[in-house]
Amino acid sequence: MYSLAEVARVHTGLVAADVDHLHRLVANWGLLADLSFTDLVLFAAADLAEGADARAGRRRYVVLAQVRPTTSQTMHPNDLVGQVFTGSVQPQVERCLRSGETVGPDELLAANDVRASILAIPVRREGRVIGVLTSVGLPSGGRRHGALENAYLTAFSRLARMVALGEFPFPGSEDPLKELPRVGDGVMMLDEGGRVQYCSPNGISALHRLGVVAQVEGATLARLGLDEGVVRMSMAQRRPATQELSRGNHTHVLVHAVPLLERKAVVGVLAVLRDISDVRRLDRLLVSKDTHIREIHHRVKNNLQTISSLLRIQARRVSSAEAREAIEESVRRIASIAVVHETLSREAGDDVPFTDIARPIIRMVEESLMAPERAVLFRLVGDAPTLPADVATPLALVLTELLQNTVDHAYHQSPSAEGSGESGGAAPVDSGEVIVTVTGPYDVDGAARVRVGVLDDGAGLAEGFSLDGSTGLGLSIVRTLVEHELEGTISVRGRDDGRTGTEVVVEVPLVRDHD
Ligand SMILES: Nc1ncnc2c1ncn2[C@@H]1O[C@H](COP(=O)(O)OP(=O)(O)OP(=O)(O)O)[C@@H](O)[C@H]1O
Ligand SMILES: [Mg+2]
Repeated sequence: MYSLAEVARVHTGLVAADVDHLHRLVANWGLLADLSFTDLVLFAAADLAEGADARAGRRRYVVLAQVRPTTSQTMHPNDLVGQVFTGSVQPQVERCLRSGETVGPDELLAANDVRASILAIPVRREGRVIGVLTSVGLPSGGRRHGALENAYLTAFSRLARMVALGEFPFPGSEDPLKELPRVGDGVMMLDEGGRVQYCSPNGISALHRLGVVAQVEGATLARLGLDEGVVRMSMAQRRPATQELSRGNHTHVLVHAVPLLERKAVVGVLAVLRDISDVRRLDRLLVSKDTHIREIHHRVKNNLQTISSLLRIQARRVSSAEAREAIEESVRRIASIAVVHETLSREAGDDVPFTDIARPIIRMVEESLMAPERAVLFRLVGDAPTLPADVATPLALVLTELLQNTVDHAYHQSPSAEGSGESGGAAPVDSGEVIVTVTGPYDVDGAARVRVGVLDDGAGLAEGFSLDGSTGLGLSIVRTLVEHELEGTISVRGRDDGRTGTEVVVEVPLVRDHD
C-alpha cells in the first residue's frame, strides 16, 4: 500500500505545498463521499505518456488516494492507489485538468459492468489546478430524491465548488488524529443566518436528547435553546469549529460546523452531530477506575501499617533482645513498602516520583536514630526520576536496608546495641553525613536506567569485606532484590576519595526483560 506522499513523489511533479493541500483534502473527504453517496478518487498528472496517447497529446494520470462512501455501495471495490491511467481511459479527468472546469456528470461503465455516473472536479490551490477529484456513483436515473438525499447532495455540490475554487480543504493544520463525526451520525444544514434548513433523522434524535422538542426547521440553534457558539465561530472565522453540547451529566453531542463559502462569503453552515454520551460515560468510568486503584493502594498501606503495629506490640512482649531486634527490623522493612503504597494512593498513574519515596524513608531512618549524641545528617541529591511501581517497591526496600546499615555500622552504636551484627571495621565515628544520590534515567544501550548511591563517611568496611562473603540478612535481601528482581547491579566498596567510609551503588533498568 502506497501513501499519497510516496505516489506523488514517484509519479508527479507536485511540490510539497501541493501535496500538503491534497493531504488536507484527503483528511476531510470522508464527509464529501458520504454526502455525495459516491466513491471519490484523487488523480494527479503523471509523467508523459508514450505511443498513441503521446501523439494525441494525452497525458497519464496517477491515483493518489481513494475513499468509499459509508452511505452507499462502492463503485470501486478494488484498490486504485498508485495505478496509472492514460487520458483515453479517464477522459473526464483529462478534460477536467485541461479546462480547469468541472466535467460531467457523464455516464460510464464501472467495475463489473455496473452503469455509473462520474463527475470530475478540479482541485485548485492558489489559482492552479493541482489534481482532479472524481466522484463515481449510481446514476440518479430520474429517481426522485428524498429530503435527506437532496440536502446531502446540495451540501456536496457546495463543497465541490469550494474544492474547485481552492476554498476546501480549509487552510491551516487540521489535527488528523481528531475523530470527526461522520455524516451517518447526523447532519444539519444551516443558512447564512444560522437558521436550520434541514436536519437529518439522526440529527433530530441527537437534538431530542439535548432536550430540543420544538420544530427545528427555520429556527436558529439559540432559538432552540442551544449554545450556537460553534456555528457563529465557524461563520466568523470561515473555518471549521467543533464544540461539545451537553445536557446534564449524561448527554453529550459533538457538533462539527463547516462553513460553506462562495468566493469567501459564508452562504451557510454544514453541521455534523454525533452523540458521544457513551464515549463520555466510558471516560468517567476510567476516571473512577483510577480512583478505585488509588483507594486500593490506600487500603494496602493501611493493612501494612496494621501488620507493623501488631509486630511492634509483639516485640514489646518478647524478652530476648535478639528476637526483639529481629522483629523491629521486620517492622522497618514493612514500613518502607507502605511508603510506596502511600505514594501510589496519591498519584494518578502507576508511576511514582522517587523523591516521594526516598524522603519518607530517610525520615524513618532518622527517627530510628534516637540517641541525640549521634548527629548523622542525611542528604538527598541528584535527579528526581519517576519510577514504575514495580521498580519503586523493591528499590524502597533496598534504600531502607542501605540507610539502616549506615546507622548500624558506620556510626557509633548506642551502648545497648554495641557489638551486634558482623561489623568489625574501624571504630565507628560519632557523627557524619550520609549522601543519597539518585541519578537518571539515563540511557545504556537503548535502555533507561537509574542509579541510587548511598555514601557515608563513617567507619568503613571491615578489612577483607566482600559482598559474596557477607552473611548479613540486609545485604542478602538487597542483592536478591537488585540482581534478581530488578535485574540490576550492586557494588559495595570503600570510598575512593581517600576518606574513610563506604559507598554502595545500585543501578537498575526501568524496564525489565521479562516484562
Ligand atoms: N555503611 C556501612 N559501613 C560499614 N560497614 C557496613 C556498612 N554496610 C554494611 N556493612 C557491613 O556489611 C555487613 C553486612 O550487612 P547486612 O546489612 O547484610 O547485615 P547486618 O546489617 O549486619 O544485619 P541486618 O541488616 O540483618 O540487621 C555488616 O555487618 C557490616 O559489617
Ligand atoms: Mg543491615
